[in-house]
Amino acid sequence: MSPTLRVAVIGAGRMGADHIQRLHHRISGAEVAAVVDIDEARANAAIAGIEGAVALTDAQAALDSPDVDALLIATPGFLHHDILLKALERDIPILCEKPLTPDAASSWEIVQAEAKLGRKRIQVGFMRRYDAEYAQLRALVAGGELGELLMLHHQHRNPDTPAGFTNEMLINDSVVHEFDAIRFFTNEEITSVQVRLGKATKNAPAGQHDPQHVLIETESGVLADVEIYVNALFGYEVATQASFETGIVSIGNDSGPYVRTAGKWGGNVTPGFEERFGAAYDTEIQAWVDAAAKGELGGPSAWDGYATAACCEAGVEAQRTGQKVAVKLNAKPSLYS
Ligand SMILES: NC(=O)c1ccc[n+]([C@@H]2O[C@H](COP(=O)([O-])OP(=O)(O)OC[C@H]3O[C@@H](n4cnc5c(N)ncnc54)[C@H](O)[C@@H]3O)[C@@H](O)[C@H]2O)c1
Repeated sequence: MSPTLRVAVIGAGRMGADHIQRLHHRISGAEVAAVVDIDEARANAAIAGIEGAVALTDAQAALDSPDVDALLIATPGFLHHDILLKALERDIPILCEKPLTPDAASSWEIVQAEAKLGRKRIQVGFMRRYDAEYAQLRALVAGGELGELLMLHHQHRNPDTPAGFTNEMLINDSVVHEFDAIRFFTNEEITSVQVRLGKATKNAPAGQHDPQHVLIETESGVLADVEIYVNALFGYEVATQASFETGIVSIGNDSGPYVRTAGKWGGNVTPGFEERFGAAYDTEIQAWVDAAAKGELGGPSAWDGYATAACCEAGVEAQRTGQKVAVKLNAKPSLYS
């Protein structure tokens, strides 16, 4: 393998294009070797100014190339399964944007394939784990200086949603991040999910009930709730308040500068996820590249992708039935212990 990790990025849409720029400008130890997109013009546009990178329209061509030694998958989730299996066969480091796959059964196939390979090759793009405040809250839980963690209150608010964003996507595309965050903070699996639908905004597209209140329980009985509100208009906010036995911790609130002028005070609302988590994406990809150079990946694993897919399935059933739905997981392979 070349000392520089030569990455093929599959999918040059919103997230893929962002990762391509990140790899090219800000990440050390890696370069963009190829960009694959079924939209040839998009693939060509994505490699503009990146010397040596090639534009392709078929992921298999990237997998077959001797000039590629790692894969970053940023196609829509329903395409992840097949390319993951092929990349595991080639036994190369993979960064797969969330979701690992769209359902628990197909995610379990990926877990089994990686377990059979016998080493971790897949990191899933749960970038919040690389946000500095997320890491600090996790350390406070693990350190125990505030006593036991009792409850987590999450706010996940977006200004609006792209065309085609369905009611199920509030769980599968949005709350999936909180499922992973809760598992990350507590180091426990989620055991049940309930979704309550209350008064809805008139600003949501037809078919979306917005906001929704998601109630989550972990193995030790930590209760978490998520306000998922994806047509909140005002801007973007992803925040958490954690209640411990001897203290309350808040993370993710807007940061300064706060300005007082002309009889008013305030600051700016974060416009979107790229601004809120830009630094976390950089840290995430750098960690992946650094680990790949040493031969074994850390970070959110295929198991984490599988477990969150199971939470999403329970969440969508809970959304539909109004019931508290148990999250059922297969036994964890020793690779992920
Ligand atoms: N971690 C995060 O915060 C975050 C944020 C946004 C999106 N995502 C995830 O990133 C992934 C991509 O999302 P997006 O918003 O960039 O989507 P997008 O629709 O903007 O981009 C997807 C790209 O994949 C290309 N594509 C489709 N089929 C292909 C194929 N067979 N081969 C190669 N390319 C193909 C499309 O032409 C498009 O350019 C999804 O899994 C999504 O859930 C993660």
